[in-house]
Amino acid sequence: MKVDVLLGLQWGDEGKGKIVDVMTPEYDIIARFQGGPNAGHTLIFEGIKHVLHTIPSGIFREGVMNLVGNGVVIDPVIFQAELDKLKPFNIDFKSRLVISKKAHLILPTHRLLDAASEAAKGKDKIGSTLKGIGPTYMDKTGRNGLRVGDILSPLFMDKYNALVEKHKAILDRYEDFTYDISEYEKPWMEAIQQLKELTAVDSEQYINDAIKAGKKVLAEGAQGTMLDIDFGTYPFVTSSNTVTAGTCTGLGVAPTKIGNVIGIFKAYCTRVGSGPFPTELDNEVGERIRQEGFEFGATTGRPRRCGWIDLPALKYAIMINGVTELCMMKSDVLDKFDTIRACTHYMINGKRYDYFPYDVNDVEVIPVYEDLKGWNSDLTKLTSYDDAPNELKSYVRYLEQKLEVPITVVSVGPDRTQTLNNKVLA
Ligand code: GDP
Ligand code: IMO
Ligand code: MG
Repeated sequence: MKVDVLLGLQWGDEGKGKIVDVMTPEYDIIARFQGGPNAGHTLIFEGIKHVLHTIPSGIFREGVMNLVGNGVVIDPVIFQAELDKLKPFNIDFKSRLVISKKAHLILPTHRLLDAASEAAKGKDKIGSTLKGIGPTYMDKTGRNGLRVGDILSPLFMDKYNALVEKHKAILDRYEDFTYDISEYEKPWMEAIQQLKELTAVDSEQYINDAIKAGKKVLAEGAQGTMLDIDFGTYPFVTSSNTVTAGTCTGLGVAPTKIGNVIGIFKAYCTRVGSGPFPTELDNEVGERIRQEGFEFGATTGRPRRCGWIDLPALKYAIMINGVTELCMMKSDVLDKFDTIRACTHYMINGKRYDYFPYDVNDVEVIPVYEDLKGWNSDLTKLTSYDDAPNELKSYVRYLEQKLEVPITVVSVGPDRTQTLNNKVLA
C-alpha cells in the first residue's frame, strides 16, 4: 500500500482537519508528519466543535490508529490539555494513538525564546503563534534537541538542564525581555510524567510494517505550502517542510511509497501573521469575506487576512507537492458575492509573472484578475454536487482548467456532512 498525503496549498487553515475527519473511514492510520501546536485543526460533527493541535484528526473514528510522527514537535502541556479535552468522549488513547520516539520536545524555554525573538524583531516580526516552534526546530537541526524517547532515560534531567542553561544564556542577551521560567516548568514536568503513560514507538518501523501489511495510511499536513521553510514566503514562514517531501522525512516513508496527494484550498485565500499576500483585500470586501467565513485563527484567535484566490500561488503549490486531486473548501462563504475574482497572474515592475517568483517581499506585486459570476444562493444545504448552481459548477470547471488537476471534493459548510463528492468529474 502507498501513503496518501493531504495538505494545505495556501497559508494554512484551509480546512485540513475537516477533510481528514471526513476521509478517515477510508484509512487505517492517520499520521501527522510536521508542525506542532502552531496548528489548529477544526472538526465539527454531531453539533460539537473540536480543535486539535498535535493529535491527528482521525482520533474520533473507532478502529483507526493515529500516529504523531518524528517530524512533529510536541509541547507536553498542550498535548495533555488536548487529551484532557477529549476525556468526555471516552476515547481509548492506548488503542488509537502512538507517538514517535524521535519527535522533538518543545521546552518551556523554547516558548520564551520564540517570544523574545519576535519582540526583538519589532515591526519585522514573523507573527509566530508563539508556541516555541522555531526555536525547537533550531535545536533539532543544531543537534541539541530533546526527543520523546529521551524521557525514559535516567539522563533526561541532566540533558534537560543542560539545554535550559544554553537557552538562559541566549535569553539573557535580550535586554528588555524578562521571564519567569518556573511558571512554565512545573506543569511541563507534570505533563512529561503523563506523556510516559502513552505509547511511544519506533514510528518509522511501525508505519513501514503497516504499509507492508496492506494498511492504508493518510498523512495529515499542518500549515500550508506557502508557509514551508524552503518554498514558502521566507522568512515569513514556519520552520518545517509542510510539503509532500516533508512526509518522507517526517514519517520515514520512502518517496516511492507516496500515493495520492490531496491538496486543499479555500475558494478564496487567507493568511494569519505577517508576510506577503499578493491578493490581500485590505478593504470592505476583505472584511466581508472575514465575517462570512468567520476568519479568526483556531489557535490564536487572531483575525485572518482575506483576499481572492491566487492561481499563480496555487499552481506553484500543486507543482511542489505533486498534487493529484483537489478539495475546494469554504465555497459557501462566497454565497452572497455577485462577482468572484480569480488572480491569474501578477505584474511586478511592469513584467508579467504567471508563476510565484522569488522576490515578493520588497516589491509591489499587482494581482491581475478575471471576474466570474457568483451563484448568489445558499450552498450549505446541498447534499449532492449535481444539484449545485451552474455558477458554482462553472467556477469549479474554470479552476480545474487553470490548475490542471481535478477538484474531487467541494466543501459547503464546516460540518462533516457538508461535503460534496465530485469524483465523477475526476
Ligand atoms: P485547518 O487548520 O486547515 O484544519 O483549518 P482550520 O480549522 O484552522 O480553519 C478552517 C475553518 O473553517 C474552521 O473553523 C472550520 O470549521 C471551517 N470550515 C471548514 N470547511 C468549511 C466550509 O466548507 N465552509 C465553512 N463555512 N467553514 C468551513
Ligand atoms: P494550521 O495547521 C495558519 C503561521 C503563523 C506565522 C507563521 C510562523 O492550522 O493550518 P510559527 O508559530 O509556526 O513559528 O508561525 O506561520 N502559522 C499558521 N497559519 N495555520 C497554521 O496551522 C499555522 N501555523 C503557523 O501565523 O505567520
Ligand atoms: Mg488551522
